[in-house]
Amino acid sequence: MEKRQRFLPVSFLFFFFITLAVWFACPQIGAADDHRTTARARRDAREHHRHNGHVKLFVFGDSYVDTGNFEPNNGSWLPPFGRTFPGVPSGRFSDGRVLTDYIADFLGIRTPIAYQQIRVGNISEQLKSGVNFACGGTGIVSAISKGPILGDQIGQLGQMIRHRFYNQTDLNNSIAIVAASGNDYLYATLQVFLLIIIISNLVTRTNLI
Ligand SMILES: *[C@@H]1O[C@H](CO)[C@@H](O)[C@H](O)[C@H]1NC(C)=O
Ligand SMILES: *[C@@H]1O[C@H](CO)[C@@H](O)[C@H](O)[C@H]1NC(C)=O
Ligand SMILES: *[C@@H]1O[C@H](CO)[C@@H](O)[C@H](O)[C@H]1NC(C)=O
Ligand SMILES: *[C@@H]1O[C@H](CO)[C@@H](O)[C@H](O)[C@H]1NC(C)=O
Repeated sequence: MEKRQRFLPVSFLFFFFITLAVWFACPQIGAADDHRTTARARRDAREHHRHNGHVKLFVFGDSYVDTGNFEPNNGSWLPPFGRTFPGVPSGRFSDGRVLTDYIADFLGIRTPIAYQQIRVGNISEQLKSGVNFACGGTGIVSAISKGPILGDQIGQLGQMIRHRFYNQTDLNNSIAIVAASGNDYLYATLQVFLLIIIISNLVTRTNLI
């Protein structure tokens, strides 16, 4: 009886430690695996570009991916934005890189130029990695900044295609990022909500009269 009582806790403890060991080992195994998969995907992506020309990245959306389309001397162009990368404000609503930079890096290309930063001159060199049309404070149906909403950003790309800055081969080798991070929810929805309150107030008053 006494022996059994001792045996149970010991086996339980053993089981407990094995579980604990597996618990701690697994995320690390998983992480290592993820890392290998990522490295392989990155290699595959680069391999793909070597055989299919330079990949282009077209970016649409809001501040989560904007790399310099916001109006000058405002918002993302003011300190402390850009403090850790590139060291000065660079039009990113971040102290460092934004999603666009990470995806471009993953693809092995330079961060695509921001539409508003395209300058006369080495155009084909500037457009080589694609274009970022995203602008902080914009959404799919509404914007709190002066920037173009999603449909207008797509229109900007359309115009570039019509002016033959990109051909079908370029487009076939391109990837698009679309970021909708909440400006619609935050502002458009709020406006609709306020409108409903105003209308319901009016209706209530009318009923009272
Ligand atoms: C285009 O040329 C300008 C100088 O004329 C240079 O500063 C810029 O880095 C060049 N852009 C690209 C993408 O090479
Ligand atoms: C900065 O941008 C915001 C949002 O578009 C705008 O409301 C504000 O007037 C701008 N400020 C200046 C100084 O232009
Ligand atoms: C498309 O444009 C790229 C440069 O962006 C050029 O290298 C390629 O030859 C063009 N392809 C055709 C079919 O015009
Ligand atoms: C682009 O891709 C489409 C669909 O896969 C294909 O039909 C077309 O021939 C491609 N065009 C070029 C120029 O690669």
